[in-house]
Amino acid sequence: MKHVTKLIACATLVAVSAITAQAEEFRLGLITPPPHIWTKAAEAFGSELSEKSGGAHSVSVFPARQLGNEAEMLQQLQTGALDMAFMTVAEVSNRAPELGAFYAPYLANDIGHAGRILRSDTAKSLLEPLPGQVGVVGLGYGMAGLRQIVARGDVKSAEDLAGLKLRITPFTPILDFYNAVGAAPTPMPLPAVYDALANGQVDAIDMDAELIWVLKYYDHADTIVQSDHMMFPMVGLVSAKVWAGMSPEDRAMIGELMAKHVDSTIDSYVAKEAGWLEQIKGTGKTYIKVDASFFGDAIDEWNAAWSQKAASLDSLRTTASETE
Ligand code: BEZ
Repeated sequence: MKHVTKLIACATLVAVSAITAQAEEFRLGLITPPPHIWTKAAEAFGSELSEKSGGAHSVSVFPARQLGNEAEMLQQLQTGALDMAFMTVAEVSNRAPELGAFYAPYLANDIGHAGRILRSDTAKSLLEPLPGQVGVVGLGYGMAGLRQIVARGDVKSAEDLAGLKLRITPFTPILDFYNAVGAAPTPMPLPAVYDALANGQVDAIDMDAELIWVLKYYDHADTIVQSDHMMFPMVGLVSAKVWAGMSPEDRAMIGELMAKHVDSTIDSYVAKEAGWLEQIKGTGKTYIKVDASFFGDAIDEWNAAWSQKAASLDSLRTTASETE
């Protein structure tokens, strides 16, 4: 009997330590501030993972660049020092240029179309090389709104952008775009933008409607150009090192839940973008709505350069026309 009791005690200990060995507290980093849709989605992902794993797993979310800028977080993901991130595809495209094709000007006709492109098999296939190429596993796409321009002073045509110091997210496709426009693109991470526009360090910014409205980027501007010129995808990432150490069950659960929560941001932007734009219009700033013709030859120039840089451009264009 004593022997049986001992065996049961041993078996219990093994079972408990097996659960403990699997249990993880993951760290997830992003650059967006706490009220941002991406940050809320990251928190919802953490809550659902904790619930579905019976409390075994939890996710600590670090918003607002607490763990560094995106380039730094990508390095941490590569070494396994960081477990997860919701990151701009812009940053990942600096290491995986095929992803740069998403930024083809006017690839998407509107925000709903951008969402359909991101939910396509073509888009998903572009995540496949990431573990080998960048050291991260891409589990699915989210997005922010289409890109607009906010400027100090009057902007009536693209010529008015010539030579303006125009803040861009630091990545190559947008740099190429504004160089083609003739502006002076100034790479700058998100948290620096408000002050830079307020103190005149930049003359204009490239930004989406949510942040123009919620973070009041219109405060120190005179003109809002609703150009809708590019989509702005996000990707849910897990460190490939951390992923390799997970059980197949955990991979399945984390893969499904992270994809679900990054995808939920697409619905949020589709539902809310028009409302933000209306509110921005209501600020009394000069508001102009333009289309591709506003940018003249810059778009052809971008397309010519990027057809050499990203073979994926053709397949994404086909997908774009199939999902119109
Ligand atoms: C930006 O760099 O403009 C940006 C980054 C993350 C979310 C939205 C916008």
